[in-house]
Amino acid sequence: MENTQKKTVLSCIQPSGALTLGNYLGALKNWVQMQDEFDCTYAVADLHAITVRQEPSKFRAQINSTCALLLALGIDPEKSTLFVQSQVPSHTQLAWVLSCYTQFGELSRMTQFKDKSAKHADNVNLGLFAYPTLMAADILLYKPDFVPVGADQKQHLEIARDIAIRFNNIYGDVFKVPEPYIPKVGARVMSLQDPQKKMSKSDENANAWVAILDKPEDIMRKFRRAVTDSEAKVCVGEGRDGINNLIGIYSAVTGKSADAIAAEFEGKGYGDFKTAVGEAVIEELRPIRERYEQIIADKAYLEEVYKKGAERAARVAFSTTRKAMKKVGFVI
Ligand code: TYM
Repeated sequence: MENTQKKTVLSCIQPSGALTLGNYLGALKNWVQMQDEFDCTYAVADLHAITVRQEPSKFRAQINSTCALLLALGIDPEKSTLFVQSQVPSHTQLAWVLSCYTQFGELSRMTQFKDKSAKHADNVNLGLFAYPTLMAADILLYKPDFVPVGADQKQHLEIARDIAIRFNNIYGDVFKVPEPYIPKVGARVMSLQDPQKKMSKSDENANAWVAILDKPEDIMRKFRRAVTDSEAKVCVGEGRDGINNLIGIYSAVTGKSADAIAAEFEGKGYGDFKTAVGEAVIEELRPIRERYEQIIADKAYLEEVYKKGAERAARVAFSTTRKAMKKVGFVI
C-alpha cells in the first residue's frame, strides 16, 4: 500500500554472458539508486536472449548468474520486484498483440536489428526482427513512468512509445507512455580497444570490455592497455574518443566533473590517469564481486526470489494484458 503514490520504473537486462561496465554505468547503477524513490520492477530478459543461439546449460547458468549479480549490486527483492521474463507468460502474449500494431517498415529501421543481422548473417530469425515488440510488451505491461536504460536502447524505447500511442489512439487510454531515463555520464560506455564502438560483451577482443565480475588485475590490465591518442593531455576534446571515454568512466564512477578531472591530471601523463581509472573501477566493483560469490552459492535463495518476483509481476502483467485484449475484442 505504501508504494501506491510512488512513480513507477521498469527495466530489463539480457542474460547473454558476463555483464559489463557499460551495463553497470549505463543502466544498473540507476536501477539500484531508483529503488528508494520509485516503485521498481526489474527483469532478466531471457526471452530476448534466444534471438541469438544459446547453449542450453550455459544459458541456464547465465540466467541464474544475472539474477545473483542484480542482487549483489543491491537490487532489494523486498523493495523491488525482480523476476525472470519467461516465467511471466503475459510478455509473449501481449507481444503478439502488439506485433499486429507494429509496421514492418518501422522494425526494419532499428539499428540493433541491422547490426545483429549483419553479425549473425546465418540466423536472421523472426524473433530478432520482432524483438522491439517484445520489449514494448515488457515495458507497457507494467505502466512505468520511467525506463532506465543506456543510450543504445533509446530507439527501442521510442518504438515502444509509438506503439502505445497508436494503440491508445484506437482503443482509449490503455497504456502509459513511458519516458526514458538515461544517465548524463556513462550512457554510452565505449570499447577500450576501439572507442568508436559501444563496449559490448560480444566483442571478441577481451581487452575491449570490462566485466563487472572481472578480477582486479584484469581490470587494471585492460585500462592500462586502453587505446588513447598521442596528445598526452587529460581533457575532453572533439575526436578524442579514447580519452573522452576514460574521462566519462572516471566521472561516472567518482562523481567528479570533466573539468575537475582535467585539473586533477594537469601535467600528468596518460599512464597515471589510466591507473587512476583502473583503481576507481576496481574499488567500485570489489564489494559487488564479494557479495555475488555468496549469493550465487545459494541456489535455493535465488529461486525463491525470482519465484516470488514472478508471482508479483504476473498479477500486474495479466491485468494489463486482459485490459488490452478486451479492448481489441477478445473474449477474455
Ligand atoms: P542489454 O541487455 O543489452 O543491456 C542492459 C542495459 O545496459 C545498457 N548498456 C549500456 N549502457 C552504456 N554503455 C554501454 N556500452 C552499454 N551496453 C549496454 C543498455 O542500454 C541496457 O539499458 N533490449 C534490452 C533489454 C530489454 C529491456 C526491456 C530494457 C528487454 N526488455 C524493457 C528496458 C525495458 C537490451 O538488450 O539491453
